[in-house]
Amino acid sequence: MNVDPFLAEWLNILVRWGHLVAGISWIGTSFYFVALDLSLRKAADMPLGVAGEAWEVHGGGFYHVRKYLSAPAQLPPDLIWFKWEAYLTWITGFVLMILQYYLAADVYLVDANVLALSNVQAICISVASLLVGWFIYDALCRSPIGQHTGWLAFSVYVLILLAAYGYSHVFSGRGAFIHVGAFVGTMMAANVFAIIIPNQRKITASLLKGETPDPKYGKIGKQRSTHNTFLTLPVLFMMTSNHYALITGHPQAWAVVGLIVLIGGLGRYFLLRHEVGDDMAEIGWAVAVIGMLLAGVVMLTQPKTVAYTGAKVTDAEALNIVQTRCATCHSAAPTDDTIKQAPKGIMFASVDDLKKYAKQIETQAVSSSAMPLGNKTHMTPEERAKLGAWIAAQ
Ligand code: HEC
Repeated sequence: MNVDPFLAEWLNILVRWGHLVAGISWIGTSFYFVALDLSLRKAADMPLGVAGEAWEVHGGGFYHVRKYLSAPAQLPPDLIWFKWEAYLTWITGFVLMILQYYLAADVYLVDANVLALSNVQAICISVASLLVGWFIYDALCRSPIGQHTGWLAFSVYVLILLAAYGYSHVFSGRGAFIHVGAFVGTMMAANVFAIIIPNQRKITASLLKGETPDPKYGKIGKQRSTHNTFLTLPVLFMMTSNHYALITGHPQAWAVVGLIVLIGGLGRYFLLRHEVGDDMAEIGWAVAVIGMLLAGVVMLTQPKTVAYTGAKVTDAEALNIVQTRCATCHSAAPTDDTIKQAPKGIMFASVDDLKKYAKQIETQAVSSSAMPLGNKTHMTPEERAKLGAWIAAQ
């Protein structure tokens, strides 16, 4: 589909902006409430039904907050619900997915070297996988496994790993990472939409009828909301990974995802515990483990140097490779059917251009195969090696 590039650019940045605003608000409230839960303390004069209370200071004033387990005896008239942050994050995220990945699936989502999909096939896999992911996750939480926090955490972790493995074998590197983010993000938003808010409605409905609400609704809501905070930081990594070709394009990208989920989950544990004043002696181990896992993931993604043993590559040869494989998009008048403007203003018209962008070319087309996008122009491994040798000789 052809959208005017100028309008497409505006639409893209506005939706992206909205997505960031909604996402930041959602993460903010989600982290705030979990930190609040962790900081609750028992007090002598707590009214009936209150499980704990906390004192906080912010913005020039003191706050005294009490948590009622399941519900207070009477429903307050002006109750504040937190749900639109989550819904809008998902909605803007999905619109962005359409604008960025579905409308130009051939360049961003499909990589013929991974799997030769048509645009329609790729989009169908994308939508179906997001739905299926939610149903499997929800079934796990409702099954007997859901009664055991450890087993449930392990099962959800394996589910995310399987998704990462699957996506990295059907989509481009960046397409796979964004999909792991969308897969988990969909679970999180659906938790709010299909579980947390309906359960809160059941609680308020029974209060309005003068009944005592079943505490199981509160407990289930709490379980899902805790999952959401553990998944937030890994999702943020996935969502911002698109421009890091050496990471998303790595052959074992699914293992990278596995390590990032652990690092992000531990990060959430440490940040919130630290925020509520827990002792470093108790939580400091998480920082050490994060450090080790980070070292592991950095080592895992170390780019392999391409060995080239042929004759010296001339300037003309290097330019020729780039002009045939890259200039269909990276030129003043692109001939590609989707890309109509030189991406990021990068054009390869002369040897000087090649020298200017040598580092970026190496990252995108030699150490990784992020470019040509989707390998649309069928660049060969030998050409990558030659280009690498030419850059090394500069
Ligand atoms: C099918 C079109 C297409 C082809 C062919 C193509 N590119 Fe790109 N390139 C793009 C697009 C689109 C972007 C912008 C990506 C984005 O915004 O995420 C881009 C971005 C880049 C960037 C900047 C990357 C960054 O994230 O900063 C470099 C460098 C680059 N391309 C190099 C190359 C090289 C070298 C080749 C040939 C080996 C090539 N490209 C072939 C479409 C293409």
